[in-house]
Amino acid sequence: MSVIEADSYFSIKFENDRFIFLDQTKLPLQEVYVETDDYNRIAEAIERLEVRGAPAIGISAAYALALSLKDISSDKSVDRFYSAYKRLEKTRPTAVNLFYALTEIKKVFESNTESQSLYQTILTRAKEIHQNDIAFCDKIGENGSKLFLKKSKVLTHCNTGKLATGGDGTAFNVIKKAFKLGLVNFVYADETRPLLQGSRLTAFELEKNGIPFAIQTDSMAAVLMQQNKVDLVITGADRIALNGDTANKIGTYNLAVLCNYHNVPFYIAAPTTTIDRTIPTGSDIKIEYRNKNEITNFNGNQVTPPNYEAFSPAFDVTPSHLISGIITEETIYFFPYNFL
Ligand code: MRU
Repeated sequence: MSVIEADSYFSIKFENDRFIFLDQTKLPLQEVYVETDDYNRIAEAIERLEVRGAPAIGISAAYALALSLKDISSDKSVDRFYSAYKRLEKTRPTAVNLFYALTEIKKVFESNTESQSLYQTILTRAKEIHQNDIAFCDKIGENGSKLFLKKSKVLTHCNTGKLATGGDGTAFNVIKKAFKLGLVNFVYADETRPLLQGSRLTAFELEKNGIPFAIQTDSMAAVLMQQNKVDLVITGADRIALNGDTANKIGTYNLAVLCNYHNVPFYIAAPTTTIDRTIPTGSDIKIEYRNKNEITNFNGNQVTPPNYEAFSPAFDVTPSHLISGIITEETIYFFPYNFL
C-alpha cells in the first residue's frame, strides 16, 4: 500500500476570489483542478458530477451564490442573486445540503440587500458553512470510530471522503479514524454503478490514506457477507427524513437488506445538515433520475444499442428500521429515530 499522501489533494477551495475544484469525472487517472469565478460554471460542475457528494455540493453552491454578486452593482444585485439562486437549485434535487446552503445564503442576502459589501457579507457566510462542515466531519469520524470494538473489515458504498465534503469526509472519515486507531484491517469498496464513485474515488482516497482495500462490483457484496468477510457496513447520506429513512447512492438499500439478512450492522454517517426536518418519511424525498447514457455507455463507449431504455435512479431510500445507527457530529442515533 502506498505511503500516506492524504493531504496531497483537495476537492474544493476558495482562494483569491476564485473557486477551485478537482474535476472528479477525470479521477483517478488524471488530477485536474479547475478555477472559476463564474457561478454558472459551478452549477454545471455540480450537474456533471465534477463536484459531487451532498456536503460538497452545498458548500459549492454557497460559494457560487457569493460569486454571482462579485462584480455586480447594487442596483442589479437582486435580479442577479435570484437568477443564480434559481439556476443552482435546479442542479440536483436529492441532496438536501444543497437546499440547506442556498437557504442559509438567501437569509443573509435578504437581510442585507442595502449593503455596499454584499459580496463580502455573503462570502463570509459561505466560508462559515464550509468551516462548519470541516468540524462536522471531524466529529463524525470521532463519534463513529467508537463503534469499533475490534479490528474490523468494513464495506462502504459510493464516495464519502474528502472528495464529497468540505472536510475529511463522513463514512470515510469514520473508517479513516478507526484505521488510525488500529481498528480497521480491510475495506471493501463497492464499485458503485453506474458512475463508479467507489472504484474511482473511494479507492483513490483509500490509497492516498494507506488503507488496505479491494474494489468489487456492487453485486459481489452478498457473497462477501455470506463468507463472513464483512464486520460492518458504513455509507453516507444525501437526505435523511425525520423518521430516519435515508436517501443515498443507488445500491445502498440493497446493502441494508443484505446486512439485515446476514446480521451485519449497517450504519449511516452524515452531518445534521443532511437531515431534512420538513419531511416525515423517506417517501417525500425527491429522487434524481440521471440520463440513460450513464447506463448505456461505459467510459464514453456505447455498450448497448442506443435505443434501449434504461432505469436510472441515482439514489434509493433505505427504510430506517434497517439502519443500525446514524452517526452525526452530535452523537450516534439509534433506531427508532425521531429528528424533530
Ligand atoms: O451522485 P453523488 O456522487 O453526488 O452521490 C453521492 C452520495 O450518494 C454520497 O454517498 C452522499 O452524498 C454522501 S457524501 C458524504
